[in-house]
Amino acid sequence: LNVGLLFGGRSGEHEVSISSARAIARALVTAPNTENYALRPFYIQKDGCWQTGAIAQQVLETGIPLPVDESMGATRLSLWQFPSDVADVDVWFPILHGPNGEDGTIQGLLKLMQVPCVGSGVLASALGMDKIAMKSAFAQAGLSQVDYVTVTRTEVWSNPCVFPKLCDRIEAVLGYPCFVKPANLGSSVGIAKVRTRAQLEAALDSAASYDRRIIVEAGVTAREVECAVLGNDQPKASVIGEITYSSDFYDYETKYTEGKSRHLIPAPLSSEVVAQIQDMAIRAFKAVDAAGIARVDFFYVESTGKVLINEINTMPGFTATSMYPMLWAASGIPFADLIDRLIQLGLE
Ligand code: ADP
Ligand code: DAL
Ligand code: MG
Repeated sequence: LNVGLLFGGRSGEHEVSISSARAIARALVTAPNTENYALRPFYIQKDGCWQTGAIAQQVLETGIPLPVDESMGATRLSLWQFPSDVADVDVWFPILHGPNGEDGTIQGLLKLMQVPCVGSGVLASALGMDKIAMKSAFAQAGLSQVDYVTVTRTEVWSNPCVFPKLCDRIEAVLGYPCFVKPANLGSSVGIAKVRTRAQLEAALDSAASYDRRIIVEAGVTAREVECAVLGNDQPKASVIGEITYSSDFYDYETKYTEGKSRHLIPAPLSSEVVAQIQDMAIRAFKAVDAAGIARVDFFYVESTGKVLINEINTMPGFTATSMYPMLWAASGIPFADLIDRLIQLGLE
């Protein structure tokens, strides 16, 4: 079975994707059905060009992205420019994080190719990537979450009379601290924690440069806990993991610098809270119609005992510091078996 490992991507999480792909490629060699799997690496450069064969293999081996002139913007791809060995792939593993990879775009392309794919399809990927749409789906499913206000780039940039009123409304509804986030990013890219009006104004301006839509959330003081989900129509939840760190919040540097965050697996929580988080994780998975894989992240507000859902990641990281594979290892599924199961779920 030729496994098309699709990595890199036109996203702020390009490097994270390369790290995830390296870990998966290593595991494929030791997966229980190794003899059945042949790895076919496909690397998407930062400008969107697809590379295969020796070039993709080289990026996988070195972990170093191919240099591109980012000032040139994206390369327009025509379907006939795709590498011809795309046709040899029996199952795709799109280990791409963030926009143009985890958001349904690639999933749609792979669906058109009529080749099975690991993970969620178009709908869940798109819902899971867009924090505003995701929150609507969670609200419909009755999942508790933080208060938030949605904002458009036009409100931030276009009319100087609207902007102060918008900031007044955010202050009145949410107060400080609050979190300003582009609706469609990941790995904390573009997210700011703000405590003053000046910081709010600057953060909205910056977020508007990343995305047309912005979400501003009330900041909670809470423990951060995560649950991994595996399966298709009968998904299973893993043990719960907790992340601790000493930085202001779980930002990009804290996420991907060894030693800046700690993972507690299993998280020290009562069995009632664990059961509640696992139940909410499964409900979140179903609420967006996810498939195969997802990691669902929560805030546990110890003072009130409340569990609030933060987000679902339909293609969570697989790096050395990533929670998803660690949670399954602690739940009895070692990394290589996990990769094998994900491929099998993709083929269902
Ligand atoms: P991403 O999709 O980029 O991971 P998140 O929404 O998970 O973005 O936010 C990244 C981090 O920012 C969280 O892990 C947490 O540390 C902090 N954070 C985000 N939103 C809030 C909030 N409403 N209250 C408290 N902390 C938050
Ligand atoms: N977006 C990163 C890869 C994660 O959620 O793990
Ligand atoms: Mg997150």
